[in-house]
Amino acid sequence: MTDVHPDRLHQFVTAVTAGLGSDPLEQQLVADQLVGANLAGHDSHGVGMLPTYVDGVSHGRLKVNGHVSVARDDGAIVVLDGNRSFGQVTGFETMEIAIERGHEHGLALVGLRDSFHIGRIGHWAEQAAAAGLISMHFVNVAGHHALVAPHGGREARFATNPFCVAIPAADNSPSVLLDMATSRIALGKARVANNAGVKVPNGTVIGTDGILTDDPGVMFSSPPGALVAMGEHKGSGLAIVCELLGAALLGGTTLQPKNPGDGSVLNSMTTIVIKPGAVGDPVGLRSEVDSFLTWVRSSELAEGSDEVLTPGQPEKRARIARATGIPIDSGTFGELVAVATQVGVDGEALLAGA
Ligand SMILES: NC(=O)c1ccc[n+]([C@@H]2O[C@H](COP(=O)([O-])OP(=O)(O)OC[C@H]3O[C@@H](n4cnc5c(N)ncnc54)[C@H](O)[C@@H]3O)[C@@H](O)[C@H]2O)c1
Repeated sequence: MTDVHPDRLHQFVTAVTAGLGSDPLEQQLVADQLVGANLAGHDSHGVGMLPTYVDGVSHGRLKVNGHVSVARDDGAIVVLDGNRSFGQVTGFETMEIAIERGHEHGLALVGLRDSFHIGRIGHWAEQAAAAGLISMHFVNVAGHHALVAPHGGREARFATNPFCVAIPAADNSPSVLLDMATSRIALGKARVANNAGVKVPNGTVIGTDGILTDDPGVMFSSPPGALVAMGEHKGSGLAIVCELLGAALLGGTTLQPKNPGDGSVLNSMTTIVIKPGAVGDPVGLRSEVDSFLTWVRSSELAEGSDEVLTPGQPEKRARIARATGIPIDSGTFGELVAVATQVGVDGEALLAGA
């Protein structure tokens, strides 16, 4: 493991995206979200995604300096095309529109279809919360083969379809941020574990033999195994809902054989934003949220547990713990240096500060 200061990591991502031809705003949005994911403790959606982006650009699957385009605009309902642009740009632009319409109408639905990977969904919920809005996000993942087996199956039928909800606190940081893959673990967590040569929790992946295992390598073998849906039939059902509301509703690409894809990571996302003041008393809501969260955390502990956390607390703690150093495993470090070299950047010097 090498600890890299977040500022240095930010400079690294900025330099690599500049090498790809990204304009300064795109460089900054990509670096903000990837390093932000590492800071929040989600290495699966951090700088380790950069090789996928460089590969996407070099094979013409990811468009540099692209933007959303409006497919439909009915005021409180907007549908956008992601145009295979950087998800850090399309996600940001989607949320800018959602925030504007949410403030104007009290409630807005903004769909983003077929963007390149939009990364950590909590980042978009934080953008809405910073503007004082509640947000909900249903997301699908298409463009490549299925990754997650439905409850009762051993063949993958959908991907890690994330679901996210955030409620802003008085300072407009989220008081609650539920941001999760609907598989027991995200694919990126299996990638990070595989790169680091460690196991994943037993039963989070299933081999092609139909046997649950702790070996992340089954996801990278040929043919690959599958991730296991969280929460048995309930999580499997939520993943299906994310596929249908996140993509089918918008006319985005769903993951099924008639849409074979080209190996890209494409996300479609339906975002619903709510302005608390349009529904009730926002001050009363904040006080109710705070007292409820305190009540939840006060539960007597189950055996083997040291504390009760509420959604979003682990990310806040990770930001404090990682403020001056983000651990990068040697596999990911090597991949980062290699992609930097590909775009003419001395990555080792940037990361190690040589
Ligand atoms: N763009 C994509 O295609 C895509 C696909 C899948 C996942 N993702 C992202 O991957 C990231 C990781 O997802 P994940 O499911 O591995 O996250 P996770 O399991 O680490 O956390 C899920 C949620 O549970 C909360 N949590 C974690 N530990 C807790 C505890 N002990 N007590 C109470 N709450 C707790 C977290 O605050 C978070 O809200 C997310 O940011 C998600 O948006 C993106």
